[in-house]
Amino acid sequence: MQSADTPITPLIAGNWKMNRLPSEAQAWLRDLLARLEADADRGSRSELLLCVPFTHLAGMSELAFGTPVGIGAQDVSRHEAGAYTGEVSAPMLADLGVRYVIVGHSERREYHAEDDATVNAKAQRALAHGLTPIVCVGERQAERDAGRAVEVVLGQLAGALEGLEPGSAERLVVAYEPVWAIGTGRTATADDAQEMCAAVRGALRERYPAFGARVRVLYGGSMKPSNAAELLAKPDVNGGLIGGASLEIDDLLAIERATA
Ligand code: 13P
Repeated sequence: MQSADTPITPLIAGNWKMNRLPSEAQAWLRDLLARLEADADRGSRSELLLCVPFTHLAGMSELAFGTPVGIGAQDVSRHEAGAYTGEVSAPMLADLGVRYVIVGHSERREYHAEDDATVNAKAQRALAHGLTPIVCVGERQAERDAGRAVEVVLGQLAGALEGLEPGSAERLVVAYEPVWAIGTGRTATADDAQEMCAAVRGALRERYPAFGARVRVLYGGSMKPSNAAELLAKPDVNGGLIGGASLEIDDLLAIERATA
């Protein structure tokens, strides 16, 4: 087991959302892998992950097997199996070699009416099948303006983590993504990101005294090469969940280099 002061390996996770065709994605990933291989002093400063649409998972997982790039999903069914047309289950993802899945992204909360109970059920299902859920939390602009950002985010976190077995929760990842910063070009200041990630960290330590200090807390929302270093330098920001910039190899690698 790691000690409380073992350094945390940052996680640089791309969220492709509903972008790129599966056929393009294969060539894109080959290019990325070639670039990583050519980068002799890359070392293992961070873990790289791409969360891609379901249609891309089989091909990309096969290509990424044994490489420094992990492949993750963007959603998972709360159900184990059965008559749920259109859904994809945690055991199906695990069977493809997928290790991570985003749950509770604000776009799922907003456009698919996912509430904290749904996010919790999905996180539980993912953990039960050996997947690592990346649990997304984040306040809207009006909630921040009303001074309720911390309360909203910690409420979402508590809802998502309700009843999780501490044993499996150890590999959890939390992503703080303020809704007003997603896809808008507006980024939280590094100090605002740190303040919220520290509040999340405090809640994790309280809930899981044995390992809460080591759970990775990511920032997401218009992270790009020009702001990544400042955000990633903050002590409670252990990586990024990156939308738009993760679609471009140069940008993704520049962000990854910012963890050095
Ligand atoms: P952008 O980086 O495009 O703002 O998206 C952030 C996000 O939603 C990642 O999950």
